[in-house]
Amino acid sequence: MKLLVTGGAGFIGSAVVRLAVARGHRVVNVDALTYAACPDTLAAVADSPLYAFEHVDIRDRPALDAVFARHRPDAVMHLAAESHVDRSIDGPADFIGTNITGTFNMLEAARAWWIRAGRPEAFRFHHISTDEVFGSLPPDPAVRFTEDTPYDPRSPYSASKASSDHLVRAWHETYGLPVLLTNCSNNYGPFHFPEKLVPVIILNALAGKPLPVYGDGSNVRDWLYVEDHADALLLVVAEGRVGRSYNIGGENERSNLELVKTLCAILDRKRPKAQGSYAEQITFVTDRPGHDARYAIDPSRIREELGWRPSVTVDEGLEKTVEWYLANEAWWRAVQDRQGVGERLGVSA
Ligand SMILES: NC(=O)c1ccc[n+]([C@@H]2O[C@H](COP(=O)([O-])OP(=O)(O)OC[C@H]3O[C@@H](n4cnc5c(N)ncnc54)[C@H](O)[C@@H]3O)[C@@H](O)[C@H]2O)c1
Repeated sequence: MKLLVTGGAGFIGSAVVRLAVARGHRVVNVDALTYAACPDTLAAVADSPLYAFEHVDIRDRPALDAVFARHRPDAVMHLAAESHVDRSIDGPADFIGTNITGTFNMLEAARAWWIRAGRPEAFRFHHISTDEVFGSLPPDPAVRFTEDTPYDPRSPYSASKASSDHLVRAWHETYGLPVLLTNCSNNYGPFHFPEKLVPVIILNALAGKPLPVYGDGSNVRDWLYVEDHADALLLVVAEGRVGRSYNIGGENERSNLELVKTLCAILDRKRPKAQGSYAEQITFVTDRPGHDARYAIDPSRIREELGWRPSVTVDEGLEKTVEWYLANEAWWRAVQDRQGVGERLGVSA
């Protein structure tokens, strides 16, 4: 399959590109290389004849048309987005521009290409979204997000992603574009940008800095190892039912405080401090405005229809992630040296 992947220099996109190339797919990566991009995450595929890169901003429609004409993809996997909730609180404009207008441009460029190509039946537009569009859940473990949960986004980030999901469904209903949607829970793993919770905790711990936990740390997330997410996405684009959405989650609910304590325990074993535990560095900080209490995915549909399951538990995945950060200091130090990385964001509301 020839895949046009947007946002392939980002955290999840790069995992998708690496896995797709390893499985023999041809991949065109369309990425504007924003602050969040790390092109060296693609070193393993950069010289592959199966891989091509297009330095294009999805807000630029003519450039997208040229990419479609040049590469003639069989399917689109649309991951490019502004993705950091705290940044969306400080500066929502980029989230509207990329996540909503950018997705509109992608849909229109894809639709124009699909019509020109004679509406091939096998063409797919796979939109990658988040569980944050569903809003916040009560603590009751019996209540989880299904594909039928009504949308209730509560941050500029989740509202912009919800808007893009609605556009994608509308392009299917109105124009017949063969779309697929996935809504996934929190990812973690190798190459995670060091402003997100898991790498912040690992790297602050190693640097002897406070380990910031928002509020009282009781917010619950459903954690998924990024390579399992990439595997699920490649399955959905190949075998998902057109017009359908699939929730993807690891069935690994943890409160933020539990997650941080688990990371500290792994570090205590793998890189013990001279004295005491990394957990002593835990510091509770002012909560994020509008911080959703709980996200949890019911992944029954993708499991039952497509036979997908995550390959690792959260304990195994966190262990692999800590090992990766310990072994890849040059990568994260270079990203940390970028301007503005590591500052507290999202408290300005
Ligand atoms: N990280 C998560 O836990 C998570 C969970 C569920 C869904 N998602 C979704 O998955 C997708 C990827 O998330 P991520 O964490 O890898 O994001 P990321 O921020 O790590 O990467 C985003 C990539 O998109 C590119 N990009 C941004 N604006 C662009 C533009 N205007 N034109 C072209 N490229 C642009 C960036 O350069 C970067 O390479 C997003 O759509 C996000 O909403 C993320």
